[in-house]
Amino acid sequence: MTSSKDSPSRLRTVRSFVRRAGRLTSSQQRALQELWPAFGVEFGDEPLRFDALFGRSAPVVLEIGFGNGETLVQQAAENPGLDFLGVEVHEPGVGHGLLKARDAGIRNLRVICHDAVEVIDAMIPPASLSRVNLYFPDPWPKKRHHKRRIIQPRFLEAVAERLSSGGSLHIATDWENYAEHIEVAVRESGRFECVERRVHAGDEALDRPRTKFERRGLRHGHQIRDWRFVRIDISSMGLASSEL
Ligand SMILES: C[S@@+](CC[C@H](N)C(=O)[O-])C[C@H]1O[C@@H](n2cnc3c(N)ncnc32)[C@H](O)[C@@H]1O
Repeated sequence: MTSSKDSPSRLRTVRSFVRRAGRLTSSQQRALQELWPAFGVEFGDEPLRFDALFGRSAPVVLEIGFGNGETLVQQAAENPGLDFLGVEVHEPGVGHGLLKARDAGIRNLRVICHDAVEVIDAMIPPASLSRVNLYFPDPWPKKRHHKRRIIQPRFLEAVAERLSSGGSLHIATDWENYAEHIEVAVRESGRFECVERRVHAGDEALDRPRTKFERRGLRHGHQIRDWRFVRIDISSMGLASSEL
């Protein structure tokens, strides 16, 4: 079901994850086999046609690194008018998410088990997403590992290109140092406007359910930070300035 191998043409040296030997439970293993045809999408080089994929035309939300998929499934169940695409590299998490999706009886969800950076580059058409969710990305706290953080200039540029006009990027983290990195990287990208920022104790999540990693951060006494960034429409900025 999953294309866990890296395509040679896309080999990068630094990734935001390390593949852990997946310890699949038997029910996750079965879910990956039996539920993959209903929810799974293979990694490939062709841009997706969302209308064909979901069998209708609706705004599409991308969640990057959905972990065990509980938040993703909950959001899909609560928003039947939206279509959700989740991308996660960790097979047991994908298996768990598939079981949750089956139990929820939802149809507005598809998942890809692959590196989200490559998925965005190869499979997400320009200006096709209404929202991108990135909840508690791996913080890579050691300085020598900061280059592994998924939020990098090239990533932000790629996300901005895939968001439709007015589309938003939602990020949450419980790591103070990563929060500083996020603020700087997003500001320096010049592609997003911060329309909402919250610092809280897990009680003011910004338009999302509480996640598994958020619960873990809270157990460690961490504060939570949430942002909603909206894509700046560069073409209309150009128009506006040329009209001055
Ligand atoms: C700290 S966990 C957070 C999981 C979940 N969002 C939550 O809040 O509970 C980060 C997740 O991102 C996944 N991940 C990291 N880099 C990724 C990438 N490039 N593409 C897809 N998933 C990735 C990891 O496998 C992991 O499950």
